[in-house]
Amino acid sequence: MPTDIVPFPQDRYAEVLGELLAAHEEFWDGRDLRALHAATWFRQFGGWALLAMDGPVIAGYLCGTVTADGLGYVQLVATRQPYRGRGIARDLWATFTANARKAGATRLEAVTSPGNAGSIAFHRSLGMTAEEIANYAGNGGTTVLFRRDLDDAGSP
Ligand SMILES: CC(C)(COP(=O)(O)OP(=O)(O)OC[C@H]1O[C@@H](n2cnc3c(N)ncnc32)[C@H](O)[C@@H]1OP(=O)(O)O)[C@@H](O)C(=O)NCCC(=O)NCCS
Repeated sequence: MPTDIVPFPQDRYAEVLGELLAAHEEFWDGRDLRALHAATWFRQFGGWALLAMDGPVIAGYLCGTVTADGLGYVQLVATRQPYRGRGIARDLWATFTANARKAGATRLEAVTSPGNAGSIAFHRSLGMTAEEIANYAGNGGTTVLFRRDLDDAGSP
């Protein structure tokens, strides 16, 4: 079943964000990450967000932003459970990376929690380094920071 990577419909951000939140369990395996889905990522930064569509069904999504000093940051990437393992998250990242490069990004970052083995394996498969950082968020917890430089001629 092919999926299309399309720009997030920023003009309908609240409706589509509502759809993502209603299907939260299917995207996040029962973990509650709704607090990370601030409207800002879809209204103000929605020009960087992407959807993977299987017809009318949202099979995956990504949100992030690119800073003026060349950092491409992905806040969230998720693939709906039945669509996992088909390259959807990789395609979402590849499109974000291409868009970020066009905007002058020279490096990429994302984060996850140390227990999220699937996320760590996925981001490593994209060629990112994974470093555990203590007290990353100032709350005493440990976060895994993924990083990759984009000075390596054009790979997705
Ligand atoms: C992590 C996640 C986004 C991967 O999505 P996906 O569409 O299934 O990933 P892809 O099919 O594009 O995988 C690309 C590569 O990543 C690796 N990978 C992906 N998921 C993996 C897993 N659970 N375990 C090990 N490796 C994995 C594989 O190397 C894979 O390549 P291959 O299929 O050729 O072997 C998905 O499991 C998910 O949505 N998880 C819940 C949300 C989440 O934790 N998001 C990340 C934190 S922001």
